[in-house]
Amino acid sequence: MALVLVVDDDVSITTSVALLLKQAGHVARAAAGPAEALSLLEGGGFALVLQDMNFSRQTSGVEGLALLADIKTRWPQLPVVLMTAWGSIGLAVQGMRAGASDFVTKPWTNAQLLQSIETALGLQEARGRRDAALPTRDELDTAFDFSGVIGSDPRLLKVLDVVARVAPTDASVIVTGESGTGKELVAEALHRNSRRREGPFVKVNLGGVSSTLFESEMFGHVKGAFTDARSDRKGRFDLAAGGTIFLDEIGELEPGSQVKMLRVLQDRSYEPLGSSATRSVDVRVVSATNRDLPALVARGEFREDLLYRLNLIALHVPALRERPGDVPALVHHFLAAAAQVHHRARATVTEPALRWLQAQPWPGNVRQLRQLVERTLLMTDREALGAEDFAAGAAMEAGEAPRDALPPAGSMTIDEIERAMIVKCLARYGGNLSKAAEALGLSRPALYRRLEKHGITP
Ligand SMILES: Nc1ncnc2c1ncn2[C@@H]1O[C@H](COP(=O)(O)OP(=O)(O)OP(=O)(O)O)[C@@H](O)[C@H]1O
Ligand SMILES: [Mg+2]
Repeated sequence: MALVLVVDDDVSITTSVALLLKQAGHVARAAAGPAEALSLLEGGGFALVLQDMNFSRQTSGVEGLALLADIKTRWPQLPVVLMTAWGSIGLAVQGMRAGASDFVTKPWTNAQLLQSIETALGLQEARGRRDAALPTRDELDTAFDFSGVIGSDPRLLKVLDVVARVAPTDASVIVTGESGTGKELVAEALHRNSRRREGPFVKVNLGGVSSTLFESEMFGHVKGAFTDARSDRKGRFDLAAGGTIFLDEIGELEPGSQVKMLRVLQDRSYEPLGSSATRSVDVRVVSATNRDLPALVARGEFREDLLYRLNLIALHVPALRERPGDVPALVHHFLAAAAQVHHRARATVTEPALRWLQAQPWPGNVRQLRQLVERTLLMTDREALGAEDFAAGAAMEAGEAPRDALPPAGSMTIDEIERAMIVKCLARYGGNLSKAAEALGLSRPALYRRLEKHGITP
């Protein structure tokens, strides 16, 4: 049971929200405006504030932001959920920057509002336990299911500890980290330890969903929605109902699709392509990216409001080179799996080999380590794999992707090199402009200009 303060000048709203909260086992107090709200808060005991943005005839939201600022100054730990109009999402973004926990847009459904409130309360409780000492791997394993996630470095345990604490809430989680660090594994662990574990876990790789296919892929379509739509098709959100949807490579989402994603994350509702019937869906959203989303926001390539929808909780999976202590356990794990497949039950790793492996930089992180272990096992018949075996395996990997030496002086102009490099990057990333641009150290618009200049069609 939690005591919630509902601040709105509209009595019909405070009354209906109070009833909703009561049914959910909470207690609500109503305040018609900022002054009343602050004086009630001074009495203490509140676990959460749900507040409107306007309390007079004004519609600018200035009053709401001022109240939020007052609350955050005096009770910085108290979670505040904002109620905003759909049209004024910019206001919600300002509120989130000013420390609000979440925002719901009007008109909301009871389920949506309750989910947002319960999530904020659940997270608050999880934060309350944050000061406790970091649990050990054994402690985590007795209470949670982290099978398949190898490692006990404090940096990894920190991640697993947060996973354990936020898994039971419905909070949206974004998992960041370099390529191959185990983001997908973490997303799966979140689902497995949540109340939705019996429900589906649906993965969508947004890097592979073009803006033309986005709606039919995510929301489904009805028969006849377009020429090839010969039958109804369920979208990914539909398939994930009651479970978790994993939005992988969210940073690759094209601007046109970002708006549509925002709407479904906001309202948990959508219309299948070719249908006017709105469907609502109960899903937990977990996303992942190896890109720097705040930087994309700063460059205007990713919507800030969408970022706030995704990152109620941000989980960063550290690179493997930052937790070398986990290398031996990972090596043994991958070697055992590969040895079984290849009937090499007696294969082991020498001590010097483990030390050598721990000293490597691992730009491709755990995935790269796994591949090297598998390759090295296949390359030698020796039972105990030594450092020189792994070094030979690594050299072979380097051979697969040779580091191009520069062409002889006088053979190419800068323009020609630029053109060749762009073509190479496009080929390497299968025509994915965002990835090619990132690899080239360019913004997307800058890459477009160069494509035009060189007459390249991706
Ligand atoms: N802690 C770990 N224990 C065991 N296996 C791991 C661990 N971390 C990563 N892996 C393995 O490494 C590989 C890459 O992991 P995963 O796909 O989760 O990485 P990712 O961060 O999603 O990578 P990308 O950014 O390229 O999508 C997988 O085979 C996964 O099983
Ligand atoms: Mg991944």
